[in-house]
Amino acid sequence: MHLVNGKYYIQEFEVENLAKEFGTPLYVYDGHKIEEQIVKMRSAFEGVDLKIKYACKALTNLSILKLMRKNGIEIDVVSVEEARLALKAGYIPSEIQYTPSGVAFSEVQEAVGLGLRINLDSIPLLEKFGEVYGNSLPIAIRLNPSIMAGGNLKISTGHADSKFGISIQQIDQVMDLIRKYDLKVVGLHQHNGSDFKSADVIIEAMQKSFEVAFRYFPDLEFIDMGSGFKVAYSENDYVTDMEDLGKEVVTVFNTFVKEYGKNVQLWFEPGKFLVSECGLLLTHVNVVKYNPSRNFVHLDSGLNHLIRPMMYDAFHDIVNISNPEGNVRELYDIVGYICETDTFGKDRLLPETKEGHILGIRNAGAYAFSMSSNYNSRIKPAEVLIYHGKVHLIRKRETFEDILRNQVEVDI
Ligand code: LLP
Repeated sequence: MHLVNGKYYIQEFEVENLAKEFGTPLYVYDGHKIEEQIVKMRSAFEGVDLKIKYACKALTNLSILKLMRKNGIEIDVVSVEEARLALKAGYIPSEIQYTPSGVAFSEVQEAVGLGLRINLDSIPLLEKFGEVYGNSLPIAIRLNPSIMAGGNLKISTGHADSKFGISIQQIDQVMDLIRKYDLKVVGLHQHNGSDFKSADVIIEAMQKSFEVAFRYFPDLEFIDMGSGFKVAYSENDYVTDMEDLGKEVVTVFNTFVKEYGKNVQLWFEPGKFLVSECGLLLTHVNVVKYNPSRNFVHLDSGLNHLIRPMMYDAFHDIVNISNPEGNVRELYDIVGYICETDTFGKDRLLPETKEGHILGIRNAGAYAFSMSSNYNSRIKPAEVLIYHGKVHLIRKRETFEDILRNQVEVDI
């Protein structure tokens, strides 16, 4: 988004006009920003045999998935439902890695039925998989390396107390099962969290996979390091420097490949890096309330459309699209319309904000729509994608019919 003569634009489209045309609240995605991130990532890791698997849980709109595929990005799914969306978007099963967390074996069987690549995260699942499939299908295993990484505890997944993965300390049990069922492990996977505060943990974690590979798995096809790349949520925010990280990773990984004596692909599964910054949630100011202690700006949205501030204390930059450069500035708490505390941003210094203004909440591409709900029986917003000189409506706004759709009314 850029400001020209007092108006915000995404590509050549004036943002305020999008709110007028499609109504609010509205998720707006910039397809070119996604492609920019793809290019950045590819060029950072040039020199290794890289595969990018989009962690589609971040944003699963079919048109976004199609855009990813068109750009040669493969996909990581965590449920068979996500896999079905990927298939619908044109992915072929071998491009889809299925990385579930604690699912019933019946779902793994469904995933096998769909032809997905299977990534298993527990010893009981490995055992069941071995009993049924033996060595007939290649698999990856998700390791838990006991590394604390991630922006906060809720999004840290690689530490010893996390539910995710198979502890590296249990590798002997894994090996017993591999021998018992002749399992064909072709990939080692880790995903240790989101919003890493330092990229060093990626190198540290990668070394752990190398150790396991050298010691136990002489015939791997890939090492998948998940994600965790940090993007900017505010102006001077820490971000993962992809270029620096890329240089280090390429050196370390190529040294590994040489010693390993066989080509191994390096996989990453970015979610936020690809789609966080492409998204803007456009909202309308319903009420401005000057209370004795604070000024509140109430929007026509809430934690039902963007839960990250309330769930993770996440900071999302908020801009006044209607009055970007006003000289009078005030401190506001930007809040939603949900009947519980749903603060988008506290103590935000914004140009004077009035009823009827349009506010934009940034970084609404990743984990915004995908974590949205109908809480308070509110409907979900529409989504639009700006791509190749056009604004595409890629999801219609829900209607009250959607709220009623699956309710079964009985005579009481
Ligand atoms: N791979 C796996 C197996 C994952 O579970 C995740 C995210 C990713 C990749 C992508 O991570 P990313 O690049 O987006 O950091 N809802 C939280 C984030 C939860 C991430 C869950 N797993 C948030 O909004 O911060």
